[in-house]
Amino acid sequence: MIATARQALGLLDRKDRRRFFWLLLLSVVLAMLEIAGIGSIVPFIGALASTGDGPAHPYLVRLQHWSGYEQEHSFLVFLGSCVIAAMTLRNVFFAFSNWLVALFTALCRRNLATRLLECYLSRPYAYFLTRNTNELRRNVFEESAQVIEGVLIPFTRIASSSCVALAILTMLFITDPSAAATAFVTLGSAYALIYWYTGSRVDKLGQLGHGYRQQAHRVGSEAFGGIKDLKLLKREALFIDSYRSISERLTRVDMRRNAIGLIPRYAIETLAIAGVVMFILYTSRGGAALGQMLPVLALYLLAGYRLLPALQSIYTNLGYLRFNRVVLQTLHDDLADPAQPVESRSTGETLGFEHAIDICDVSFAYPQAQAEALQGVSLRIDKNTSVAFVGTTGAGKTTLVDMLMGLLRPTSGSILIDGVSLTADNVGAWQRNIGYVPQHIWLSDDSITRNIAFGVPDEDIDHEAVRAAATAASLHEFILTELGQGYDTVIGERGIRLSGGQRQRVGIARALYHRPSVLVLDEATSALDGATEKAIIEAVDTLSRKITVVLIAHRLNTVIDCDRIFVLERGCVVDDGDYASLLRDSSAFQRLAR
Ligand SMILES: Nc1ncnc2c1ncn2[C@@H]1O[C@H](COP(=O)(O)OP(=O)(O)O)[C@@H](O)[C@H]1O
Ligand SMILES: [Mg+2]
Repeated sequence: MIATARQALGLLDRKDRRRFFWLLLLSVVLAMLEIAGIGSIVPFIGALASTGDGPAHPYLVRLQHWSGYEQEHSFLVFLGSCVIAAMTLRNVFFAFSNWLVALFTALCRRNLATRLLECYLSRPYAYFLTRNTNELRRNVFEESAQVIEGVLIPFTRIASSSCVALAILTMLFITDPSAAATAFVTLGSAYALIYWYTGSRVDKLGQLGHGYRQQAHRVGSEAFGGIKDLKLLKREALFIDSYRSISERLTRVDMRRNAIGLIPRYAIETLAIAGVVMFILYTSRGGAALGQMLPVLALYLLAGYRLLPALQSIYTNLGYLRFNRVVLQTLHDDLADPAQPVESRSTGETLGFEHAIDICDVSFAYPQAQAEALQGVSLRIDKNTSVAFVGTTGAGKTTLVDMLMGLLRPTSGSILIDGVSLTADNVGAWQRNIGYVPQHIWLSDDSITRNIAFGVPDEDIDHEAVRAAATAASLHEFILTELGQGYDTVIGERGIRLSGGQRQRVGIARALYHRPSVLVLDEATSALDGATEKAIIEAVDTLSRKITVVLIAHRLNTVIDCDRIFVLERGCVVDDGDYASLLRDSSAFQRLAR
């Protein structure tokens, strides 16, 4: 429990931690008020029962004397007013506390989700090669809420219920020690026994539930992510079936957890009622005066009315804690993982690039991969030239440019920009030189302008630069003549309203918007038809000599005009030269050309 509490607090920032302690304190105050409410009823009923006949309880006599209301009826009025006052105070505070808890939950959720998002996004690119992004998304947007509601809030409930239970038991002890001890031992041990018996089951259910929720989420996002394949292959039923079966299992887990949480309550309630009835029968056997029995009885009934729910609430909330421990552990591990490097934030500086990029004896192995994807690669790229990497699929071309762009760090060897080695500190400044066009560019459901100036706030968008980038990518004409709203046309989720060639051009325009000095195209045109590819490469060619172009291409005719071509095979550069000389001398290149 303490370890859980420490982990849970670790998820909060300092402000939220302080809020949480206030909330705990509030729970305790509420418990006190609750007790005052119950406590105030006892003397009231006692006084009522002793009006007219019978001797009053010695406590009552003292209280009456102390209060100064010597007359019987005015003492009753006084006690009644105390009940009303205590109950009013309690209820006002309860309403207020509900509001506070809602506020706290909302704030904590928001802050935790933001912290998680920040934490994940600050990881280097290589981190995302080892993680399922659906899982990360779920952690940020859903599991964070689960932790707040399933771990932190239960802690406050346990605190307040423990106070209530403790106070009621104390009151019982003062009035009737033996009955109180019996109640405490039977009820307490009944709950403790059930908790002990169900604990490991709840742990297991928690793990299962976490796994099923992840799976259900994954099926959902994969179904929508691959909607075209799904439609064509008619796999709808498959996805629906697998979703249904996972959610059925999830429902079963939830049902079982609920059953474990709720059913003991009824068994124990029955036990308690039987106990109280037997107690009454036992005490009334000698024909004891109602006046003497009533206040004790009232206390018992009220205590039962509050003590049982308090014990039940402790039990249920302990169960919640156990059930949600897995989620807590997951988020805690992700947030506090010291093994994961964090990228330093961009300082806004750009690394100077005047002469050449040198790749010196670079090797790289992917995390969890057996073989090296690059082995001792050395090459030089002069500024304002165009180079191409060619080779069969899996030769290591993408890995090499990812390395060159600083997304991956070499396992050994180094990358020099004008002789300056790329490190974790200057990689952000180097990346500001780069415009990158991948094979599948990711477009957002937004206007052309916002897609080209990707991630730039509206008021900072340089519309001239957008136009210039679109023109350079041979997109300007198309935007003006074919799109209804010109640059403001919304292109649909992932650019669904554009053709492949148009999408790639938007990608190129996006890469050019920041006026990069190095443009990297990783199979950016491979999925297009020959004519469109030619048009795009011509657009890129007009840029060569003005900027450095690094091109990965599938079809060799796209690289004819490149100044230098490197042929990769199984992670090594095997040949290099211009197109004509390679075609003449390189057997590896000839194989590709065939
Ligand atoms: N995320 C990854 N994890 C493990 N291995 C990878 C990963 N990405 C690529 N590889 C492996 O690295 C090698 C080079 O891949 P890549 O650079 O993408 O090749 P290319 O772009 O030339 O087709 C391949 O053998 C591939 O299987
Ligand atoms: Mg590739």
